[in-house]
Amino acid sequence: MGPAVASEAMSTPILVAVAWPYASGSRHLGHLAGAYLPADVFARYQRLAGNRVLMVSGSDVHGTPITVRADAEGVTPADIVDRYHAEFVSDWDRLGISWDLYTSTGTQNHAEVTHDIFLRLLQNGHIDKRSSEQYFDLEADRFLPDRYIEGTCPHCDYSEARGDQCEDCGRTLDPEELIDPRSKITGSEPILRQTEHFFLRLSDFESDLSEWLDAREGWRPHVLNFSKGWIEDGLQDRAITRDLEWGVDVPVDDLGPGKRIYVWFEAVIGYLSASKEWATNRGEPDAWRDWWENDGARSVYFIGKDNIPFHTIIWPGMLLGYGGLSLPTDVPANNYVTFSGGKASASRGVGLTIGEGLAMFEADAIRYALAASFPEQSDADLSVEEIARRVNEELVATWGNLVNRVLSMVHRTCGGEVPSADGRSEDDLAVLAAVDEAIERVGEQIDRVELRAGIRTGIEAAAAVNVYLNATEPWKLAKSDPERAGVVLGTALAAVAGVRVALSPYLPFSTVLLDGVFGEVAGWARVEPVPGTPVDKPTPMFAKVDLAELMGVEPGGEG
Ligand code: MF3
Ligand code: ZN
Repeated sequence: MGPAVASEAMSTPILVAVAWPYASGSRHLGHLAGAYLPADVFARYQRLAGNRVLMVSGSDVHGTPITVRADAEGVTPADIVDRYHAEFVSDWDRLGISWDLYTSTGTQNHAEVTHDIFLRLLQNGHIDKRSSEQYFDLEADRFLPDRYIEGTCPHCDYSEARGDQCEDCGRTLDPEELIDPRSKITGSEPILRQTEHFFLRLSDFESDLSEWLDAREGWRPHVLNFSKGWIEDGLQDRAITRDLEWGVDVPVDDLGPGKRIYVWFEAVIGYLSASKEWATNRGEPDAWRDWWENDGARSVYFIGKDNIPFHTIIWPGMLLGYGGLSLPTDVPANNYVTFSGGKASASRGVGLTIGEGLAMFEADAIRYALAASFPEQSDADLSVEEIARRVNEELVATWGNLVNRVLSMVHRTCGGEVPSADGRSEDDLAVLAAVDEAIERVGEQIDRVELRAGIRTGIEAAAAVNVYLNATEPWKLAKSDPERAGVVLGTALAAVAGVRVALSPYLPFSTVLLDGVFGEVAGWARVEPVPGTPVDKPTPMFAKVDLAELMGVEPGGEG
């Protein structure tokens, strides 16, 4: 890093790069727990810790996921994209996902950045043109890229595998690998036909990528093992154009009409194009460089495990071939959330969409329950009952009730205002020290992307304050020793202020509800409440969930 003023020297640029959701269908709670929510918790913490966060993503609007859906509905790809992009933007808003920019891959800027990368790789000899055989549907008179082909997975025998990936075992596939391939359009058996495409010469980067991966420290073992395994199997050059009408144009006309850039080649470029778009919007077109050309910067990619090779191998390979841009610092990919139980899910079999989840639970309740079961080390199973249980037994019982109790007592006992902090005993100071320690620990855990552990630490700190209250019994002191009652309640209030900071990256909506008493959370430290600040009779921050009522409710928000 260059010379900088003291505060900037301690402030690290951190790119929070979040998987770009296909605008081809509603996102469900599994996606939320897999990428968007972990990214948001991480970003909120890093901002409070004083780092310069750039959190970007956008809708992935190209490729066969979009066109297959459009075909099925008899509408245009643009119709599908507009519908789901709008839905996602509303989802993020309602959930408090704090993007610096949420854009889409359908922008002119994205096409330009994609062309720049394509042309540089071409010029550097890492892209070449080859003739290959691709599946062709004689009845439909067209090629069948990616998801237009279905068949049996060669790895796990799943009979509905798609030409780009097997949903069942999660492996990335090429259409030619499928056993008994059939056309998604007509159901007919496809033939192979010659067609020309551009290929990314991934094999050029095999040894550099292998060395790079070997040098990664602190990465999740499953991410590193999977990625190294992929390279050990031999890095294949990959076609990066398709016979499609929907996508980013190929910037050279060698291939003739009807070809587009492959969606995965351009979607990963979105992280860079969105950073540039953000900088341009700010009127500082070079501002993106701090995150991409700076050895002191970090870049953390939040994705689900099915996206691992694209982020740990293909995108790093593209960056190496382009030159001068930073490779990912970490790719803390999550495992899957499976969704069992619950009436709504049983009927659909695939879990709740975000809209359905928000029709049942408050945003902070969903955020809490998902964070408490983030699938960081293994898959996690969720159900409506389990979310309700966590909300009632943990969020409401431990944290919500604590806040309510303390604010009510301060309101009643201390003349409706924050009491002075004078005369604290050793026990009083001990509970505050415990809270301060918890704040520090949560910060370390979030920084290591151990977000599940972080929220546990925060809730345990709330439990410790409950223990303190039960030991000191300020409700009795109010009569026997009002002065001591004031000290205890002032201490409890200061402890609550601290726990609120620790939980704030996870629970942004309820955090703001306490701004009146404690002020805005503006840094990663406990701030003493200001004596004399009015404390009104509180209203509960979270509603207790009535499971019986919930299960009778028809979930809305289907999109
Ligand atoms: N659209 C892909 C999906 O929903 C993710 C793309 S991530 C990116 O699985 F890196 F390519 F942007
Ligand atoms: Zn499979």
